[in-house]
Amino acid sequence: MRCRKCKGKAVLDVPRHHTAFCKACLTEFVCAQVERAISEERMFTKADRVLVAVSGGKDSLSLLDILGKLGYQADAFYVDLGIGEYSRQSKAKVERYTSARGISLHVHELKEDEGAGINDLADLVHRPTCSVCGTLKRYHFNRTAVEKGYSVLATGHNLDDEAARLLGNVLHWQTEYLEKQGPTLPDSVEGFAKKVKPLYRLAEREIAAYAVVNKIDYIVEECPNAQGAKMLLYKDILNRLESESPGTKQAFYWGFLTRQKTDEQARPSMAEHDRAVLRPCVTCGQPTTSEICSYCKLMARAQKNGPTPVGS
Ligand code: FES
Ligand code: ZN
Repeated sequence: MRCRKCKGKAVLDVPRHHTAFCKACLTEFVCAQVERAISEERMFTKADRVLVAVSGGKDSLSLLDILGKLGYQADAFYVDLGIGEYSRQSKAKVERYTSARGISLHVHELKEDEGAGINDLADLVHRPTCSVCGTLKRYHFNRTAVEKGYSVLATGHNLDDEAARLLGNVLHWQTEYLEKQGPTLPDSVEGFAKKVKPLYRLAEREIAAYAVVNKIDYIVEECPNAQGAKMLLYKDILNRLESESPGTKQAFYWGFLTRQKTDEQARPSMAEHDRAVLRPCVTCGQPTTSEICSYCKLMARAQKNGPTPVGS
C-alpha cells in the first residue's frame, strides 16, 4: 500500500476518503482536519487559552499534541476518578506527557475533594457510575476552566464518539440532547466556558494511528466501568456499517450537523435560550437551570446516604 500523497510506504488506509497515508502525510492530514474543525466551527483562535480535558487515552493526549503542533495555547486538566490501577496508570501517562513538553497540568482528585472515588460515590447515590461520572466531570471541567481563566474547554471526542452518541439519541428520540450535540457549544452565559470538540472530523482509528506514529504513550485500556456500556454497542454497529459502506459515520454525523445549522436559523439559538433560563446555583454559584445544580444535588445525596466526608 502506497501513500496517495507522496507515494511513500503507507501506514494507514482511509477508505472514507479513498486514500492512504505514510507517517508524515498522516500527521499532516490529521492536523489539517483539526485546523479545519477549529476554523469552520469558530472554536477558538491563537489568542485564546484552551484547557484540554485529558484522560490519558489516545484521543485527549493526541488532541493536546496536535494543538501544540498547530501553535495554540493549550494546557491540560485531569480528573482523578480514584479507580484503582486504571486511574494510577492513566494519571502517570498524563503527567509524563505534560511534564516532558512543559505543558501546565491541573488535577482534580475525587478522593481528596469529594471524599470518595467514583465507584463509592455512585453506590452512595444509587446511580449508574457512568452517569455520576458524567455529572462530576462536566461540573469540574467547566468550573476549573472558568476559575483558572480559560475561555475554552476542549475534549477529545472523535467522529466515532459523536456518531455513536447521535445514534443513541436518535434511537430514543432524545431531542433535548440532540440540540446540544454540535462540536461547539457557546459560552452562553457568564460562568460557562465555551465547549469544543476539535477531533469531530477524525475517526478513532485515524487518531489511534496518529498517536502511534507520533509516539504518544497513552493508556490503551478503556475505563473498567465502560465495559458493556451502550455506547460500545452503538460504536460496534456503526463500525459494521462503515466496513460495508465506508463514509457512513461521516455522512450520519456531518449530515446531522448541516441540518442542525439550517434549523438554527429558523429558531432562537441555544445561547439565547440558555441565557433566559440559567442562574447561579444557590450552593456553589455555578450556572444551572434549577435552584441547585446537579453536582450539588448529587453531593448532598451522597452526604445524606453515607459516612463519606464530602467536600465541594
Ligand atoms: Fe467515567 Fe469511567 S466512570 S470514565
Ligand atoms: Zn452547585
